Amino acid sequence: MKLTVFNGSPRGRKSNTRILVEYLVEGYRTVAGPGVEIDLHYLSGRKHSDVQLEAFARADLVLLAFPLYVHAMPGLVKELLEVLEPRDPAAGVRLAFLVQQGFPETHQSAWLTPYLARLPARLGCIPAGTAVKGGVEGIQIRPPWTNTKLFASCGDLGRDLAAEGRFDPARLKAFAQPVRLGLGRRLLFSALIRTGLANTIWDRNLKKYGVYNQRFARPYDQ
Ligand SMILES: Cc1cc2nc3c(=O)[nH]c(=O)nc-3n(C[C@H](O)[C@H](O)[C@H](O)COP(=O)(O)O)c2cc1C
Repeated sequence: MKLTVFNGSPRGRKSNTRILVEYLVEGYRTVAGPGVEIDLHYLSGRKHSDVQLEAFARADLVLLAFPLYVHAMPGLVKELLEVLEPRDPAAGVRLAFLVQQGFPETHQSAWLTPYLARLPARLGCIPAGTAVKGGVEGIQIRPPWTNTKLFASCGDLGRDLAAEGRFDPARLKAFAQPVRLGLGRRLLFSALIRTGLANTIWDRNLKKYGVYNQRFARPYDQ
């Protein structure tokens, strides 16, 4: 079955979303066959919204993949969702989501996932599951071996999607770990905050842009 993918990262082809989707699609192909049609769309740039609407209108199985932005979705994903025409439920179109985020604990996505659970029905589609993964921000800079398990899991998700038309619920549960940080990591993080080490990257960027002295500014607090 043809797989229609929407990549909702504002980073487009440079995104972490693209990398995870590539592994998922690779898994999908191993079950669906090398010749299966993959219809891939990047929402960044906002230039091709007519093409994207058309792609959704003709899709059989849809994967909407995007990064978590402030516990929600990037604006361009919401923009697309606002204009999509619901499909005829008789068509049996399936809709799956892949949400990936920077922080490790997937509880960060807890405000978004109930919305995604309701969305397929609103769009006349059958829910095919929501995969949520944390700790993804560093994947392009850390040693490749640290990503091996993550990429293999994405391949498994793709295989499930091709074989069953939906993500396997047990797999989704394992994929989303950790939902919350364990005690050890919480204690470590508290120590890093107290020593200021947790702010190293943020502080470096603030200094780079010459705004370090304004880091506690509250421009809207009159
Ligand atoms: C504006 C903005 C808001 C973000 N908000 C969150 C957040 O609430 N929780 C989180 O875990 N990560 C958050 N992140 C991190 C991204 O989800 C993470 O870096 C992701 O891997 C980026 O994926 P992409 O390269 O596909 O865009 C945010 C990043 C940006 C730029």
